[in-house]
Amino acid sequence: MAVDLLLGLQWGDEGKGKIVDVLTANYDIIARFQGGPNAGHTLEFDGIKHVLHTIPSGIFHDNAVNIVGNGVVIDPVIFKKELDNLEKFNIDIKSKLLISRKAHLILPTHRLLDAASEAAKGKAKIGSTLKGIGPTYMDKTGRNGIRVGDTELANWKEKYRALANKHEAMINFYNVDVQYDLAELEEEFFEAVKVLKSLTFIDSEEYLHQAQKSGKSILAEGAQGSLLDIDFGTYPFVTSSNTTAAGACTGLGVPPNKIKDVFGIFKAYTTRVGSGPFPTELFDKDGETMGRVGNEFGATTGRKRRCGWLDLVALKYAVQVNGVTQLMMMKGDVLSGFKTLKVCTAYEYKGETIQHLPFNIEEENVKPIYSELPGWDEDLTGMTEAEQLPQNLIKYIEFLEEALEVPIKIVSVGPDRTQTIHR
Ligand code: IMP
Repeated sequence: MAVDLLLGLQWGDEGKGKIVDVLTANYDIIARFQGGPNAGHTLEFDGIKHVLHTIPSGIFHDNAVNIVGNGVVIDPVIFKKELDNLEKFNIDIKSKLLISRKAHLILPTHRLLDAASEAAKGKAKIGSTLKGIGPTYMDKTGRNGIRVGDTELANWKEKYRALANKHEAMINFYNVDVQYDLAELEEEFFEAVKVLKSLTFIDSEEYLHQAQKSGKSILAEGAQGSLLDIDFGTYPFVTSSNTTAAGACTGLGVPPNKIKDVFGIFKAYTTRVGSGPFPTELFDKDGETMGRVGNEFGATTGRKRRCGWLDLVALKYAVQVNGVTQLMMMKGDVLSGFKTLKVCTAYEYKGETIQHLPFNIEEENVKPIYSELPGWDEDLTGMTEAEQLPQNLIKYIEFLEEALEVPIKIVSVGPDRTQTIHR
């Protein structure tokens, strides 16, 4: 049985959580493959809004087993809070949520290091969510990290101590003002590790291999977005993992030839949270309207998201890098009421017109070139069928499909599970 992937194509916050939740009915297994609690996957159903950070978005469905893969970094403290929030749903967590022994742990000192590193960068700061993501992946690739499976070993606290001591020396080296009480943080951490250890740990690559052999269907769930990918994103303003399709292979141990459909999620416009280039960013009332109507505030940090027109150059790049086979357009409803919509179809770059993403997309290098399309006024939020969509929205969708050469199969018209139109 093949594995399907679901990924964000922009700078994150595309609405992956909602779509995984919608698609889960079709899958036996939902597996998160990268990132950590920097993610905030929002799901709404039955009048309840729920934000998940580490736990896969299939957790609310009875039919699916959820796996936190080896490519994910887990903060036991945040994980425990997520579990506490799920208590009222009576989910059998021990059998529905399985954790890879090879996933790395975010230690309290990783979070402190993140804060110290950002403070030391001053104006050049990444705008990190300060969840310790960068330092944890640095320890992973530096071969110093502590993995979930290590907590089953007798000497793991010694390993922890050695690494935490090293981190403290590094924090001092930064010479910035980071206040903390490590004893207090550690008490909370070790308490949370106990809870983590009460869950089921697995060798997830073997589990997924056997699951495929026995015909189980698997959906790999990405976090963040393609433009935040450590290799293909707007480096250095990126996260520290591979958010693109290849990340599912390394983050789950799934071979590339087993991947079938790649679902690419994008917003009908663009948002970005944190620092970094954003060619189509708006600083006017249109951008303000998108932010207000779209409620563009980070699900993890509450930060205001920067808003702008859809950037087809960047989107096409993400479609290419990921091999997207089906697109899903989110938040079309937010664009209702704009008289004219702009879509960036090329960049002016060093005096030339280009249609690909160059090495450097800082403002001084790149100026967006726009096509204009007529807007629509209809409120989409109550629509349930493709036939109800306004003509100008259909034109907008067809314009994008032609440029991207991939069909848009889902149009989301609101945050609720039910506000999802299949085409
Ligand atoms: P970090 O991954 O917390 O180190 O943050 C690095 C950059 O990625 C910052 O610009 C963050 O705002 C951004 N980022 C990280 N996770 C997310 C996400 O889930 N959605 C949107 N942006 C994110």
